Amino acid sequence: MAYMDRARRVIPRGMTSRGRGRAVPVAFRRGRGAHLYDLDGRGYVDLVMALGPLLLGHSPAAVIEAVRRQLEDGVQFGGQHVGEAQLAELIVEHVPSAQKVLFSNTGSEAVQAAVRIARATTGRRLIVKFEGHYHGWIDPFFVNSPGVSAAAPAENALIPVAHNVAGQPAPTEVLVCPWNDVAALEAVFAAHGTEIAAVITEPIPFNLGTMLADPAYLPAMRDLTRRNGALLIFDEVVSGFRVGLGGAQAMLGVTPDLTTFAKAMAAGFPIAAITGTDEAMASAIDGPVFHGGTYNGTPLSVAAAIATIDFLADNAATVYPHMQALGEQLAEGLRALATKYTIPLVVNQIGSVLQLMWDPHLPVRAFADADAADPAPLAAIGELALAGGVYAAPRGLMFLSTAHTGDDVHHVLGAYDVAIGTYLAQADIG
Ligand SMILES: Cc1ncc(COP(=O)(O)O)c(C=O)c1O
Repeated sequence: MAYMDRARRVIPRGMTSRGRGRAVPVAFRRGRGAHLYDLDGRGYVDLVMALGPLLLGHSPAAVIEAVRRQLEDGVQFGGQHVGEAQLAELIVEHVPSAQKVLFSNTGSEAVQAAVRIARATTGRRLIVKFEGHYHGWIDPFFVNSPGVSAAAPAENALIPVAHNVAGQPAPTEVLVCPWNDVAALEAVFAAHGTEIAAVITEPIPFNLGTMLADPAYLPAMRDLTRRNGALLIFDEVVSGFRVGLGGAQAMLGVTPDLTTFAKAMAAGFPIAAITGTDEAMASAIDGPVFHGGTYNGTPLSVAAAIATIDFLADNAATVYPHMQALGEQLAEGLRALATKYTIPLVVNQIGSVLQLMWDPHLPVRAFADADAADPAPLAAIGELALAGGVYAAPRGLMFLSTAHTGDDVHHVLGAYDVAIGTYLAQADIG
């Protein structure tokens, strides 16, 4: 593809985020509603949706209008502006654990800030993260994430911490624990309880299977952290505002000390939030924590976030049930294809997010189960679906938006029907 040849000459691998890689190259010029248009004008039903932010579809009118108004009033102030407090008030209103809010630009930055605050508030250093969870690309938390091989493991009591670059030392301040396993977490606290500053988890792990924990697991995590003087951080970069206005914490009824938000909170504009209780945020309120950033609370993104959350609050009674119904329609259609072709395709779905897996270990309860799946067939089918006008991530993670319709789902199922049939025919010949 001519564009990718050009891009590769000046951009490593021709792409500015590794998560966008795929075997069949494609590049886009325009997005509208639930659809993307490539450089040749070909349209696709978009199931990537920027990997999460586009809950309201591409360029939703209410958000674009708010950003247009802000453009007239200035792009960047380098000082406090009225939108920041308005946005923070909205978040405090909707998110159960939020009493104070800080802004940064991306989920990765928000995680760094939350961890710094947790360490300063508790005066401790160790962070517990879970096997296969992704909390952004920044060291030292980009360890034992999906796709990270055990290049330079550092031992701890449970799972060796693995850096993704061979030769780099694995961080010793991170403890990796299997998820959805109360006994394992108890063992980590028994060994290191007085040194643990925080446990960080995606409350709903959308990056490793889109599943719910056993009902007792997150309450046990809440209890263990509290009893040991550690903070609980929910990484709601994906789940925040997507599963409901109050995020996964409202949906699941478990309240963390600190939370990170990004993605769906601003309909595609870059902004992230770090929220917490007054107690957990003490080190940032009148303690030593430095949280800086030229673009923190940048007015265009703040305007977008206010418009997004206002829209979701005004329409929550219809938006979230609609997303659940559409998600179910797509999941059931894909499961019917699995039956039709007798293939080991497993479809997990929570609201507007689906995860397809090819022959995982059942039941899928944690990373090891999802990791047992074979990624190759799904990637191949995803590439074949591209020819049928569906843009879906090769790793089988699908996002729907309020802009998707039943007709879009119908189109996706038709394209997957053809793609699976073609894949199986090719596999037979091979
Ligand atoms: C759960 C989670 N945390 C953090 C991040 C990092 O966010 P960003 O890509 O905005 O840096 C991601 C990104 O996908 C994520 O899924």
